[in-house]
Amino acid sequence: MRNNILAGNWKMNCDLPMTQELISNIKKQLPEQLDCEVMIAPSHPFLYAAFNDSLDTPIEVIAQNVSQHENGAFTGEVSIDMLQSVGIKTVILGHSERRDVFLETDKDLAQKTKAAIDKGMRVVFCCGEHLDQRNTGNHFKTVTDQIEKALFDLSSKEWKQIVVAYEPVWAIGTGETASPDQAQEMHHHIRKFIADKYGDKTADKLSILYGGSVKPANAQEIFAQPDVDGGLVGGASLDADSFIAIAKAF
Ligand code: PGA
Repeated sequence: MRNNILAGNWKMNCDLPMTQELISNIKKQLPEQLDCEVMIAPSHPFLYAAFNDSLDTPIEVIAQNVSQHENGAFTGEVSIDMLQSVGIKTVILGHSERRDVFLETDKDLAQKTKAAIDKGMRVVFCCGEHLDQRNTGNHFKTVTDQIEKALFDLSSKEWKQIVVAYEPVWAIGTGETASPDQAQEMHHHIRKFIADKYGDKTADKLSILYGGSVKPANAQEIFAQPDVDGGLVGGASLDADSFIAIAKAF
């Protein structure tokens, strides 16, 4: 009904030799039968090399971010056309590190998402609450606000190009994971929120990934939840053995 997806977010790690070695090690161990789409997100300078290295495999190379601007005087930015010219079809947007460290706003993310969707890209849209928001009972509202502000101008048709990644900020890179129940509860809440606006068909087809310290030891239990359709994995995706072990958890 909907796709399972495992996406590795490599963040600002790996130079070119390390990128190529990691891809080569993942390729060597990738099982023939996979029950998920596999995506990796290396840094921008290495996307072209990574794309070429992955051509003969089921691995999709995706980007970690993109500009909402078409082209021009935006020093340091990378455009959608640039990504597409090196074979990239999917981009992660709204990661909490982009929101918190680089101060990307809901408005920026709405613009980026719309621009990427208009050019035919798929977007892995990240959302998630901070610990204080969970502790004060505001986690559901925080997450649905993020989704509403950035994505609710899209049409149902455009939602086919969206994957949502729920990543509680308190679980990212901390070793702390949402329990399978906490993940299921939020994923179900997100799906219902989208069903209320767009209808069951759109919501049922939407893949919702969990992110936040996913590891081989906890992947199976988290992915077994009915509304969890895979993972967005940071730290554990930088090691081929653990990334493959997570891929086998489906
Ligand atoms: P983590 O990162 O798996 O290292 O917690 C997840 C992410 O930031 O996407």
